[in-house]
Amino acid sequence: MARAGVTCLDCHKPHEGVLKAEGNALCLQCHSETASERFAKQHPNGLFDAPAHTHHPVGSTGSQCVNCHMPQRTYMKVDPRRDHSFVIPRPDLSASYGTPNACTTCHEGKTDAWAAEEMDKWYGTAWRQRKTIVHAFAGTAKGGPAAVDALRNLVEDRDQAGIVRGSAIAQLGRIGGADVVADVKAAAGDPDPLLRLGAAEAAGALPPAARLDILGELFGDETRAVRVAAATALGGAPTPEFLGDQRGSFEAAVADLRAYIEANADFAEANNNYGMFLMGQRRAQDAEKAFRQAIVLDPSLSGPRINLAELFRATGQDDKSERTYAEAVAASPDQADLRYGHALSLVRAKAMPAAIREFEEATRLDPGNARYKTTLSIALDSIGRTEDAFKLLASAIDAGEQDANLIGTAINYGLKLGLYPESLKYAEILGRQQPDNPRIADLIAQLRAATGAK
Ligand code: HEC
Ligand code: HEC
Ligand code: HEC
Ligand code: HEC
Repeated sequence: MARAGVTCLDCHKPHEGVLKAEGNALCLQCHSETASERFAKQHPNGLFDAPAHTHHPVGSTGSQCVNCHMPQRTYMKVDPRRDHSFVIPRPDLSASYGTPNACTTCHEGKTDAWAAEEMDKWYGTAWRQRKTIVHAFAGTAKGGPAAVDALRNLVEDRDQAGIVRGSAIAQLGRIGGADVVADVKAAAGDPDPLLRLGAAEAAGALPPAARLDILGELFGDETRAVRVAAATALGGAPTPEFLGDQRGSFEAAVADLRAYIEANADFAEANNNYGMFLMGQRRAQDAEKAFRQAIVLDPSLSGPRINLAELFRATGQDDKSERTYAEAVAASPDQADLRYGHALSLVRAKAMPAAIREFEEATRLDPGNARYKTTLSIALDSIGRTEDAFKLLASAIDAGEQDANLIGTAINYGLKLGLYPESLKYAEILGRQQPDNPRIADLIAQLRAATGAK
């Protein structure tokens, strides 16, 4: 709706912030049967305030537009707000990705499949084919060429809102590496500041030369958010000799960043981000101060604690790093990434049994994480428990785990233990994933010969 030109003031009074109309009348300003001249191209008109659309009795809570299209959720534990993305309920996506939907939020105890079937009876099945950005963003977690293509399609789709395209380019930078330099460069020159903001965030993950080339332009951007993001993204790159004649505009962007941090000094996240920036600039003491301030402001956040521990590690203070992780685990015992970080710090301290206990906690809290399991298996092998290491990985693979690193590690231990048929089985899974990899093909051939398989 924002893309079509609907603004805050179409629904809110400017001074009080309260709504302009009560109940469904707010939406019927535009969504009635009378065609609106202002939105002639978008056709938002139609008969919506009727059981034919809402399928709930007139006047009931289930017939209120906002209850289906602006479901309420509680933010920051205390602030109930209605969703301003004006979505259409998609219980089918909830079934795939665990996203919330209005139907089952009200109909507690009913399943997403139930809601989807009721919607099929009401609206036919075409709603399932409505365009959605969800698949592309959910695919980011998996990575790979298909995920890159899906995000790239969103970036290039000019019918999408700026915030969607900008978020897509930011994600693309995270998973695309050197292959997406041209995409990020194009986004950095887009007239929409949300795309340039996404490009600045994406640039942080690109190879250093491309990074500076793109960020150099954005240090002087007309929008402060873009300048701040550009300065933040450069934080980790080799500076300042590297900057050359960009140095002046970089310093100006850093001044913007500092002003932004000062204005938001009461937010833990702002201090945390500033700490990351300072860490990239190798200003360890200032970074430590910023992370500590973030922890004071919000002791429940794990990010600043992890960053502080990693800062100690990077500056060779392994004992402080381990202690910081231990404190973080004590504050949030159910967080898998903290357990994992703590485990790694215990490995560095050569406290293997304690490290293994923490790896096991991390795996218990996040059973789907292949990296946690693989690292746990390596720790087990290192103290002679190769059989346990193999069993752990084997049961993950037998349950459908596809991660190449995990499978490769399982094969190593299988070979070490002389378990050739099992090793062959796993090598064949890898072979199906990477049919053109000659090393895997060789291994399969050798194992087939050794086991007498065809
Ligand atoms: C299509 C109508 C519509 C538009 C457009 C709209 N809002 Fe709202 N807004 C609502 C409704 C409905 C509520 C819920 C009010 C309630 O429950 O009392 C709401 C609530 C809010 C609240 C109160 C949240 C709270 O925590 O109490 C804020 C703030 C707000 N809107 C800001 C905005 C801003 C800023 C914009 C423009 C970027 C905007 N709204 C655009 C309909 C709209
Ligand atoms: C000022 C006019 C205006 C008001 C008020 C308004 N809308 Fe809209 N709405 C539009 C326009 C225009 C579109 C079409 C956007 C498009 O297709 O690009 C739209 C589209 C929609 C869609 C379809 C979104 C999609 O993903 O296809 C929903 C749902 C919706 N509005 C719900 C609401 C609700 C609920 C309210 C009241 C809280 C409301 N609208 C108030 C103008 C308005
Ligand atoms: C019980 C839930 C529910 C309520 C209440 C509800 N809607 Fe919807 N709305 C839906 C669903 C589901 C769809 C998608 C239907 C489809 O794809 O055929 C939808 C679609 C829409 C669309 C998009 C139409 C299009 O063709 O793209 C608009 C606009 C809309 N609703 C406006 C409203 C307004 C205005 C109200 C209040 C008068 C309202 N809705 C009340 C569930 C609801
Ligand atoms: C604000 C809460 C609310 C939302 C959102 C809502 N419903 Fe309902 N629904 C109700 C209530 C309450 C009733 C009982 C009828 C009544 O008195 O309004 C009902 C009745 C029904 C019924 C008939 C009775 C039954 O339980 O079989 C179906 C089917 C249904 N809803 C499906 C849906 C679907 C599908 C959606 C999402 C598109 C949805 N509802 C969204 C509150 C809601």
